[in-house]
Amino acid sequence: MNTFVKTVEAYKQGARTMPGRYYTSADVQHEEQEKIWRRQWISVGRTAELASPADYRTVEIGGESLIVLRDQQGKLRAFFNICRHRGTRLCTGERGRLSETIQCPYHAWTYALDGRLIGAPHMHEVEGFQKADYPLHQAALAEWNGFYFVNLDREPQPFASVFAPLGDRFDRFNLPALVTVRRIVYDVRANWKLIMQNYSECLHCPTIHPELSTKLPYTSGANDLVEGRFLGGYMDIKAPNESATMTGRACGLPLGNLSAEDRARGYYYTLFPSMMLSLHPDYAVYYTVWPRTPQESQVICDWMVHPDSPQSPGYHIADAEEFWDRTNRQDWDICQRSQLGVASSRYVPGPYSPRESMPAAWDREYLRQMEG
Ligand code: FES
Ligand SMILES: [Fe+2]
Repeated sequence: MNTFVKTVEAYKQGARTMPGRYYTSADVQHEEQEKIWRRQWISVGRTAELASPADYRTVEIGGESLIVLRDQQGKLRAFFNICRHRGTRLCTGERGRLSETIQCPYHAWTYALDGRLIGAPHMHEVEGFQKADYPLHQAALAEWNGFYFVNLDREPQPFASVFAPLGDRFDRFNLPALVTVRRIVYDVRANWKLIMQNYSECLHCPTIHPELSTKLPYTSGANDLVEGRFLGGYMDIKAPNESATMTGRACGLPLGNLSAEDRARGYYYTLFPSMMLSLHPDYAVYYTVWPRTPQESQVICDWMVHPDSPQSPGYHIADAEEFWDRTNRQDWDICQRSQLGVASSRYVPGPYSPRESMPAAWDREYLRQMEG
């Protein structure tokens, strides 16, 4: 074995956690904005939250504010939230419905919902001024399985090629049709990466989540996406439980056309950088993680079910909501403790075990993107 191969093997066998500055430094956060948040496809929400023309929301990504809206033709679009006149922030609301236009509050430049500038007082007096030269700056937007993603890069990597590794693996879960029935927003005093890493392993489950472990044995299952942007696999739901719920009973209709095997499993995936997707036979949980400061993050957590579930007998989403709300709070608590520890001057990278191959792979992908 040559030295290089030996080194790689040693690294794989003996992968270590990342140095403390990745969890504490404003410089690293700044670099992440450039290399990750302004370059990657970022999962923002479900397309159904912008159901009708003129529905809009604002979102902050990579230090930028964006307006995401549905235009009059029904197309979802994302714009940088700045006026082409003197740069003023256009929308300050969080979400709502626009009129047929967006008007800047400063000097009343007015834009159609497809971004065209359609009104600019007194600018016709300026020689050579053409409204067509001043549309809103657009960000790329892609829809996938009922979710939408935005990309701030001027030349984004094509969404279809980035997401190609996922193929049709989620088709059977009927994701485009699922409806969001619950949302909890959590403020977590931990770096966003600690949250992603924590989601990626269940070595901590027996100690941190004793109740969860009775439904989802941590040694069960297998990972099927083990390197790259998309990582994860499944765990077995321990019989006679039907789902990962407080009671162990199913809380709604099956999400889609699921095999007997799928009906006895939970699937857990991270979609780099900040989306997590948990699929159970009868409900899904969709998380997005939003860095605030190097030491603080926000996690938005949505529970989704089959559209007919809420009207069906036996529907009881609270059973799933409580199961993950408790689990989430246990996770955030331990992430906060991790944050305190990795900020210590004595912290040095520690060794991952084979049961932490997923966080190790997540770190490798993160470092690849940061070096890119
Ligand atoms: S800055 Fe928007 S109209 Fe002047
Ligand atoms: Fe956990």
